[in-house]
Amino acid sequence: MGAANDQLDVRTQLARDYTEALRAHISGAGEAGLTRAYELGRRAVTEGIGVLDLATVHHEALLEIGAAGQECPVNLSGQFFAESISPFEMTLRLDRELRKAKEAAEAANRELESFSYSVAHDLRAPLRGIEGFSSMLAEDCRERLSEDGHRYLAHIRDAVQQMRGLVEGLLELARVARGEIGDERVDLSALVGHVAKRLQGAEPSRQVEFAIQERVIAFGDAQLLRAVLENLLGNAWKFTSKREQARIEFGQRREGDETVYFMRDNGAGFDMAYVEKLFGVFQRLHGAEEFQGTGIGLATVQRIVRRHGGRVWAEGAVGEGATFYFTLGESVRGPAPA
Ligand SMILES: Nc1ncnc2c1ncn2[C@@H]1O[C@H](COP(=O)(O)OP(=O)(O)O)[C@@H](O)[C@H]1O
Ligand SMILES: [Mg+2]
Repeated sequence: MGAANDQLDVRTQLARDYTEALRAHISGAGEAGLTRAYELGRRAVTEGIGVLDLATVHHEALLEIGAAGQECPVNLSGQFFAESISPFEMTLRLDRELRKAKEAAEAANRELESFSYSVAHDLRAPLRGIEGFSSMLAEDCRERLSEDGHRYLAHIRDAVQQMRGLVEGLLELARVARGEIGDERVDLSALVGHVAKRLQGAEPSRQVEFAIQERVIAFGDAQLLRAVLENLLGNAWKFTSKREQARIEFGQRREGDETVYFMRDNGAGFDMAYVEKLFGVFQRLHGAEEFQGTGIGLATVQRIVRRHGGRVWAEGAVGEGATFYFTLGESVRGPAPA
């Protein structure tokens, strides 16, 4: 029997077992018959046999049993069928519950997002107040303030500056999660070149060698991709600030059917043990006394890259620099040429 059975496809085998079990049930198998019906239903689910197909199997079983001259009471056969399809109901219910849970999580996420957006947004006005009044204090009451007073004031203004960075970062993070996403041809090399020029202009005394591969083209949202490059290059610039001879490289390479873009520097680097943390909001691996920052940049980068259907990851070693890689999902216009 074994060899012959092996050649049967799963549906035929299931149909055969079904008929046999139904026959046993109407001959008075009772609970055991129903247990068998349930098992057959489970098998159908795992074998990928649909509920309509199972109904056909049931119908065919009835015909076969009838043709053999056996009586088939409607209540018993109905009971058997209902039991056999109950595993389907369970998976349907699970599906429904999963979908509901997913929707609830998404709604909670959206709520959290708009909450942090409005918090950040509403913090701007009082922050402007503190900023304005502390500079008035510094200007107008210069003579009346003691040396300590000036020092405290400087701390207040530093703290306000820091908080302003956080608030602007959170607003930016919320912004990149919203809105439509463009699909334009973007010259990443040109963008990196612009940003590099601006950074060098702001700190002309720094010695930084740029190696920017030419004609690195991507398809995506120009404004968002600019934010990605500003953050990555801004980090490379910042974390090489203690290097005599800094070097920053930008380029692309082909990996399989994917284009991988990268930004490499020979700066402070980081410990790979914490690489997972880098992209979290407010996560920083370097202290503020060492390198200024808010810890929102890479979270923004990750969100933008993901919205493009891509991935971002990093490699680094303490004291030996870091490389940030990202891909962008396939554009509707097809992949960017290598
Ligand atoms: N090029 C880099 N070299 C070394 N560490 C980096 C680099 N870029 C990012 N990091 C690490 O990742 C952290 C998070 O980066 P980011 O979100 O841009 O925040 P921020 O620049 O405000 O510190 C940084 O604080 C730093 O510890
Ligand atoms: Mg940064």
